[in-house]
Amino acid sequence: MEFVKDLISIRDLEKKHIDLILKKSSEMEQALKEKKKLSSLGGKVVATLFFEPSTRTRLSFQSAAMRLGAKVLSFENVGVSSIVKGETFSDTIRMVDGYSDLIVVRHANEGSARYAAQLADHPVINGGDGGNQHPTQTLLDMYTIKRAKKKIEGLNVTLLGDLKHARTMRSLMHGLGMYGANVTLIAPKGLEMSREVINEVKDRFGAKVEEKSKMDFSGADVLYLCRIQKERFSDQYEAEKVQKEFRITADAIKGVKDDLIIMHPLPKVDEVAPEVDQSKYAYYYEQARMGIPVRMAIMDSMVV
Ligand code: NCD
Repeated sequence: MEFVKDLISIRDLEKKHIDLILKKSSEMEQALKEKKKLSSLGGKVVATLFFEPSTRTRLSFQSAAMRLGAKVLSFENVGVSSIVKGETFSDTIRMVDGYSDLIVVRHANEGSARYAAQLADHPVINGGDGGNQHPTQTLLDMYTIKRAKKKIEGLNVTLLGDLKHARTMRSLMHGLGMYGANVTLIAPKGLEMSREVINEVKDRFGAKVEEKSKMDFSGADVLYLCRIQKERFSDQYEAEKVQKEFRITADAIKGVKDDLIIMHPLPKVDEVAPEVDQSKYAYYYEQARMGIPVRMAIMDSMVV
C-alpha cells in the first residue's frame, strides 16, 4: 500500500495510512528485538534539520535512519549553519534537497514543513512546526497506546496541560478522534484547546469530547500530559506563573484505574511530582523508546 509522499500533518492521513504504520511499527520492533540487519534505506542520505531544540525526535530519527541502513546529515546546531549569516529557510531547504534523499524538518513557524515540502523534490517529514502539528509523535503515541491497551477505540483518554500551544496535543487529538477514543480535555485557564481543533474532530469523526476543569482522572485509561509551552507565550512572566501552579501530585492520582498509563511526550519540567514519576502508572520512558520502531516504520513506508 502507498503511504504519503510527505508527512506534514496527521490531518492529511487516512485510517489506512495510520493502520499501515501501526502494523509496520510492530514488525520493526520485532526486527529490532531479533537484532535483524535491515537495509531498506541502504545507500540513502537522510537530513535532519532542526531549527528548534530537540532531543528525542532528532536522535530517534537519526537512529531509526541508521538502523535502516541510511547515512545521516545534520547541523549539530543552527548556530554553526549559514542561517546565522542570514540565509533564508527556503534556500536552506533547496540546498539540503540536493544533498539528501529525505528531509526531516522542525521549525518554530507554523506551516514551515508544508512550505519545505513544496520546495523540495524529496520527501519531507514534519518534526514539529510551531504550535501546529507533530505527526510522528502522534503515530508513536498511538502505537504506544495500542501496544499497551490492545485497542484505541472506546478508551477514555485525558489530555492535560497546555492544550492551546502544544502541537503534540493538537495532533494526538485528531488521531484519537479518528480511532474513536473518548477524549477528555483539562487545561489551566486560558490554555484550552482551540475551538477549531475540537470542532473539526467532532465534525469529521463524531468524536466524543468533554472539557473539564478539575484534575479528576478517575475514569481514564490513559492520561497524557505535556509541559507548559513557555516558548510560545508572548508574556514569559505569565508562562512561568502557570508553570509553577501546574503540577500533578500523588494526590491527583489517588483513585485512578489500576491499569492507567500516564504518557508524556517529554521533556518534563516541573509538572510531574517525583512520586508520580516513581509510580507504576508512569509510562513515558517506554513511550519514548517507541520512537525508534515507529520512525523506522514511517521512513520505510516513504518512497525514498
Ligand atoms: C515535544 C515537542 O517538541 O513538541 N517534544 C517531543 O518532540 N517529544 C513536546 C514538548 O516540547 O513539550
